[in-house]
Amino acid sequence: MSQNIYQRISVTRVAGHIGADIDGVDLSVPLDPDTVAEIRDALLAHKVVFFHGQKIGHAEHVAFGRNFGELTLRPRPQSGGDLDEFPEICAISPTIDIARYGRDIEAHYRSRWVSAIGGWHTDMTHAVNPPMASILRAETAPAFGGDTQWTNLVAAYEGLSAPLRRFVDDLRAEHTFWAGYQMSEHDELDRSIMEMVNAKAMVAVHPVVRVHPESDEKALFVSPSRTSHILGMSRVESRRLLDLLYEQITRPEYTVRLRWEPGAVAFWDNRSTAHIAAADVNAADGSRILHRVTIVGDIPVGPDGFSSYAVAGRPFGSADR
Ligand code: SIN
Repeated sequence: MSQNIYQRISVTRVAGHIGADIDGVDLSVPLDPDTVAEIRDALLAHKVVFFHGQKIGHAEHVAFGRNFGELTLRPRPQSGGDLDEFPEICAISPTIDIARYGRDIEAHYRSRWVSAIGGWHTDMTHAVNPPMASILRAETAPAFGGDTQWTNLVAAYEGLSAPLRRFVDDLRAEHTFWAGYQMSEHDELDRSIMEMVNAKAMVAVHPVVRVHPESDEKALFVSPSRTSHILGMSRVESRRLLDLLYEQITRPEYTVRLRWEPGAVAFWDNRSTAHIAAADVNAADGSRILHRVTIVGDIPVGPDGFSSYAVAGRPFGSADR
């Protein structure tokens, strides 16, 4: 169903709680402020919006992202290599990983997940200021497999019972890069990956419930990949509660799934969503090449006014060169 409140764009919802297609916009040319404002409104309303058939390269991708804020540099340790001209762009491609590290690093991480849903994450929540939003573009895509799925963390929060909402409202949790993985110091590759990541370690404490700075909606701000434990609880209590919350945020009814095609662009609000790449893609075929930019985010705040703080590392910003 098309939402008629927009003048410049056409917005069509694609799932019950999250996701909309946006048509009538050409991302290869500069956008006027009214169009940008409508895209921003649609993003806030639908949490992730999809554009299709866009003929854009890195420069247009960066220009589009800048309409919505300052862009971060790509996360380290990814070196970028071929992307030196575009330090904001993060490449997501098994082929590039294999050329750079001799391995499909994402597949290696997946083999270290501590649970089957270990890949669900919100981008960079190990930073004190996770990005406000991310924009992912498909250059090439496999004929099938490798879809990305998003979940609405606001709907997940609202779907909890009132007593449980009250219970989680003033909890805080630590987020680290390693929370969802079981790496081994006795494995050479694990050790070298840990050294690479730990050289730029980021650890942050965030509210378990984040109040959206623009909409005031409350989101269940935890993810299997990054949330290590809830503060003030024993590890056993924390594990059980997090497992319950993870089950909630990954319920199918809160999610939407995108089948990538060349020219598809997904733009998500990183303050109210988590996402995962389906691990059903054949890395050897090399055709899944995506590029991402992220927009600098602010420091999350909980319902009780608690603000996130960094345990390690600096804020994730554009100045972090
Ligand atoms: C990401 O985590 O931003 C990338 C997701 C994907 O590869 O589909």
